[in-house]
Amino acid sequence: MHTDTQPPVILAIESSCDDTSAAVLRGDRILSNVIASQKVHEQYGGVVPELASRAHQQNIVPVVDTALRQAAIDRRMLSAVAFTRGPGLLGSLMVGVSFAKSMAQGLEIPLVEVNHLQAHVLSHFIKESDESVVPKFPFVCLLVSGGHTQILLLHDHFHMEVLGQTIDDAAGEALDKAAKIMDLGYPGGPIIDRMAQQGDATAYHFATPNIAGNDYSFSGIKTSFLYFLRDRLAEDPQYIERHCADLCASIQECIVGFLLKKLEKAVIKSGVRQVAIAGGVSANSRLRKGLEQMGQRHGWQVFIPKFQYCTDNAAMVGIAGYFKYLNGEYADPALPPYAN
Ligand code: KG4
Ligand code: ZN
Repeated sequence: MHTDTQPPVILAIESSCDDTSAAVLRGDRILSNVIASQKVHEQYGGVVPELASRAHQQNIVPVVDTALRQAAIDRRMLSAVAFTRGPGLLGSLMVGVSFAKSMAQGLEIPLVEVNHLQAHVLSHFIKESDESVVPKFPFVCLLVSGGHTQILLLHDHFHMEVLGQTIDDAAGEALDKAAKIMDLGYPGGPIIDRMAQQGDATAYHFATPNIAGNDYSFSGIKTSFLYFLRDRLAEDPQYIERHCADLCASIQECIVGFLLKKLEKAVIKSGVRQVAIAGGVSANSRLRKGLEQMGQRHGWQVFIPKFQYCTDNAAMVGIAGYFKYLNGEYADPALPPYAN
């Protein structure tokens, strides 16, 4: 248990997928958050695990140095090193885990292991100033990333009850696959978001499946989108180019509309009046606007993360590490990363 009167200074490291990131926090206050995104995967249309771990190895030292320098923190001032233990790509995680272990060992300070998904949700507690407003418990959080789609009820920082989740693909994965079908590039989510701004979201209607309770399913949407385009392309090879913005706006409307509809039901049922979104897809402009409007309709307080805290970043690992550090939950230096 942390008893010092001074807030701890924590270095956090995130390397679960294709972003190498390091952040420094003093207590819950962010001092720096440096992210090196790997461009190498774009030409392959998805993350190539071997290339990701190699890029993490190249990036990790300069990224950590920059984070410490921007925070004006000497490494001897650090109280602990927090790192993402999983889930993620094993080779990518290994780089961050080994670096965090050797740094903590060298400095003789505790190590704190963080779950990547908890970190996304806890990003709402990062403070940039004394005025930063954070959620109060209990609150509902829609966690939407490239690998996960879950509606969570937060009872406290680490007690997250799953109210609903996808039974197949994640929402980000569905957007990425839709973009791939249209040959728009990777990652597809932000490209669809951008193209959709010029399109008509009612131009096409793609049906959403009937799934019981608060659960989601996205694989059928992707398949019907694929078959729809296959038929159109047989008649007109230029079909996608001619209708790209409308297609993007309509498929985004289908996926994001579905996310919001189920979230709304789950929140009403929970009786909770604070709602947050987190994860890479929470950067989506349609989702952000939709949640804002939903909050106004129901009189809910909504929490929408700043862009730098939506996609993978070490600041969120730092805040999760801070809460664990306060509880004295240190990691065994021998523990391995976990992929899933
Ligand atoms: O949280 P994240 O960076 O990595 C995972 O933990 O998976 O999420 C990545 C996902 C990708 O599927 C990407 O397409 C999606 O977030 N994404 C977006 C946007 N920005 C990132 N999806 C829709 N609109 C965006 N603006
Ligand atoms: Zn993530």
